[in-house]
This record gives sequence, C-alpha cells and structure tokens, in this order.
Amino acid sequence: MAQVLFIKANNRPSEQSVTVQLYEQFLNAYKASNPDDIVTELNLFEADLPYFDNDMMNGLFKLGKGIETTPAEQKAADLSNTYLDQFLGADKIVLAFPLWNFTIPAQLLTYLFYLLQSGKTFKYTAEGPVGLVKDKKVILLQARGGMYSEQPMAAMEMSLNYVKTILAFIGIDNPEVLVVEGHNQLPDQAQTIVGEGLKKAQELAAAF
Ligand SMILES: Cc1cc2nc3c(=O)[nH]c(=O)nc-3n(C[C@H](O)[C@H](O)[C@H](O)COP(=O)(O)O)c2cc1C
Repeated sequence: MAQVLFIKANNRPSEQSVTVQLYEQFLNAYKASNPDDIVTELNLFEADLPYFDNDMMNGLFKLGKGIETTPAEQKAADLSNTYLDQFLGADKIVLAFPLWNFTIPAQLLTYLFYLLQSGKTFKYTAEGPVGLVKDKKVILLQARGGMYSEQPMAAMEMSLNYVKTILAFIGIDNPEVLVVEGHNQLPDQAQTIVGEGLKKAQELAAAF
C-alpha cells in the first residue's frame, strides 16, 4: 500500500487546461488500478504558500542549529517543514504543471523553495552537492502550447527543465516525464495532440 502525493500547479477549469486534464486523467486511472493506495492531493493554488522570505530562511537555519526562533520564524519554518515532510513521506509523487511565460507558476516555485533544505534534501561535500532524496518514484506531467523539444525553442524552456534540475539536485534524477506540446501552435492538430497525451497519461498511470 503506497503513499501517493498528487501535486497540481494549476487552478484553471479542466475544460480550459490541458495540464489539469492530464492530472485528472492520471489520477482517475491511477486510483482505478491501485484502489488500496493512500492518495493525497495537494492543489498548490489552494495551499497556504507564503513566499520564501527572511523569517522562513532564518527559522529553518535556527531550527537546524538548535537556536531559539522568534514566533514568526517558527511559524514560517513549521509551515515549510510541513510541506517538506509530506513530500518526503510519499513513496510516489505525481506533479502536474503548465509552461506559463516560459516557466512555472509562482506557487510551484515557492513550493520547490520549501523543499530545498540543506541537510534534509541535499548537502554540500568537497566533491560538490549531493541529493539526499532516494527511493521515490516521480512522474512529471506537463502541457505547453508551443513546441520546445528542439532548438532554438528548447533553450527557452525554463519550466520542465527547471523542475527536472531541482529534482535532480535533491536526488531525484530519473523522473518519468509526459509532455503534451504544440496544441496551441498547431491548432489543426490540437485535438489529436491532446487526445494522444491523455491516452498516454492513462497508460502511464496504470503502470506507475
Ligand atoms: C498565463 C499563460 C502563459 C502562457 N505562456 C506560454 C508560453 O510562454 N509559451 C507557450 O508555448 N505557451 C504558453 N501558454 C500556453 C500553455 O502552455 C498551454 O495552455 C498549456 O496547455 C499549459 O497551460 P494550461 O494547462 O493552463 O492550459 C501560456 C498559457 C497561459 C495561461
């Protein structure tokens, strides 16, 4: 019985958002194939995600060193740790996010900042940084209206590349990835592109 965390970084209605369609397709297919697993959904647009700031930074630093915190620092650090503990407690993670303005939604950026904690998810050594998160199965579901798989557009893709870089930094260097792309750039083919992506999401979910 696995603990599975489904993270959604998009609050658009599903009929308008391919990301959300991928998320829902994957979620429903996964639940159908794994009825006994414990599934938790985290909608980053509904979550309490204050920007990473001085109180959070100082609070986390002080807690790590056993130094007394101010109430504001303690509150901010506790919040960050709640999300980190939830992430670390999951056996499997499904993260669905769009490419918006070449990058990720701000809510996801803030969430990823919470996860990057020295001593918990990574550490620095003489040989360089080492990721500390192991044995976690992760899949990334991304929709992007243009096509970024090839240069020169690939260099402008700072959404999937960014998330993969952060995950690799903390030790998750082999996530599965499903990208649906080009449905805005090629409107004549949009139905086929999205339809094939949703079918693939269903297949991947059954095997995840
Ligand atoms: C605010 C916003 C910004 C976007 N920026 C880009 C972009 O920079 N490049 C692109 O190819 N598509 C862009 N798109 C289109 C999305 O990539 C496309 O709608 C895709 O399906 C993912 O977003 P969605 O799940 O919200 O629909 C943008 C869409 C929105 C809503």
